[in-house]
Amino acid sequence: MYKISLITGDGIGPEISESAISVLNTINDKLDLKFEITKLSAGDKALEQTGKALPDETINVIKQSDACLKAPVGESAADVIVVLRRMLDLYANIRPAKSYPHMPALRDDIDMVIVRENTEDLYTGKEFRVGDSAVALRIISESASKRIAKYAFETAKQRNSKKKVTCVHKSNVMRVTDGLFVKACTDVSKDYPEIAFEQMYVDACAMNLIRQPEQFDVVVTTNLYGDILSDESSQVVGGLGMAPAANIGDNFALFEPVHGAAFDIAGQDIANPSSFLLSIKMMLDWLGSKHNDSRCFQVGQKLESTIFGLVKSGIKTKDIGGDKTTSEFTKHITDNL
Ligand code: NAI
Repeated sequence: MYKISLITGDGIGPEISESAISVLNTINDKLDLKFEITKLSAGDKALEQTGKALPDETINVIKQSDACLKAPVGESAADVIVVLRRMLDLYANIRPAKSYPHMPALRDDIDMVIVRENTEDLYTGKEFRVGDSAVALRIISESASKRIAKYAFETAKQRNSKKKVTCVHKSNVMRVTDGLFVKACTDVSKDYPEIAFEQMYVDACAMNLIRQPEQFDVVVTTNLYGDILSDESSQVVGGLGMAPAANIGDNFALFEPVHGAAFDIAGQDIANPSSFLLSIKMMLDWLGSKHNDSRCFQVGQKLESTIFGLVKSGIKTKDIGGDKTTSEFTKHITDNL
């Protein structure tokens, strides 16, 4: 039995959380794997109701669970997810982008993953006013840069792909901070002679994600660039509704969609729950590795093939060209698991 803490979030968060709960309950009923799910509040609504975007009780339950699932939160995201990433030292943000058949992808041979440093950069929130100016501190350390570089090379080693790491930065302008990041990645690359290593400026990378997305395998980058590029890479393979993410530390991990609370479509039962459900697949893979539990890999595989099997047969939500509602699509998944 795995204890799963689940932040239900804001906007479309509660709708896609219901979808996630249905899928986990179906796994409990039909497959050889059990979950105990605890629903938790955090985000804009929690702030309104309790005065805290990330209530203490939520933190306590997350710490006692085996893994956390987090639906998107709204304007208070920086006070929830950015805080959790740093508090739990979830230093690696993993955002895959892969083309699947019958998805509106730019090409059918894209298979890449963004490995984003998750604890530093401009996201430490050290901003202040000095007279007429507003100042933000950009913090990049050698230890965190080497740690994420090592994670990226290990990821490239394990993937059945091009065995390449691309370090994305802007060291021609940000000479000290990005200079340190690229040097750390270059140093770590020497320990992995079997993995090709290249560097790319972030603006060129943004262009190449459209021009030649198939050239990428593992992209390692700093926090802000990774945040922006991963929205772009997800669109390149079909959109935010299909984009999962993992926040991984040495002892704990949190899984969430790449997208935000999507207030523009909240409450209409039209959100695509796949990004959250594919985040569950990433959670299952992580639990499988951590606990040496092959059942997790099998169930994760089944969940992923069920989602893409439905897409292939034309059963899909509006964002990727279908007509199914969130609840109809979820029902198809639970029926087919
Ligand atoms: P967003 O990612 O919520 O939405 C961007 C566009 O993608 C919208 O048109 C939306 O309808 C669409 N979209 C997103 N997810 C979808 C899904 N599952 N199915 C179908 N369409 C989907 O970005 P936006 O609008 O900039 O941010 C909305 C709120 O989310 C903001 O308050 C922001 O602070 C918050 N946010 C929270 C994050 C988190 O909790 N980790 C991450 C990013 C934003």
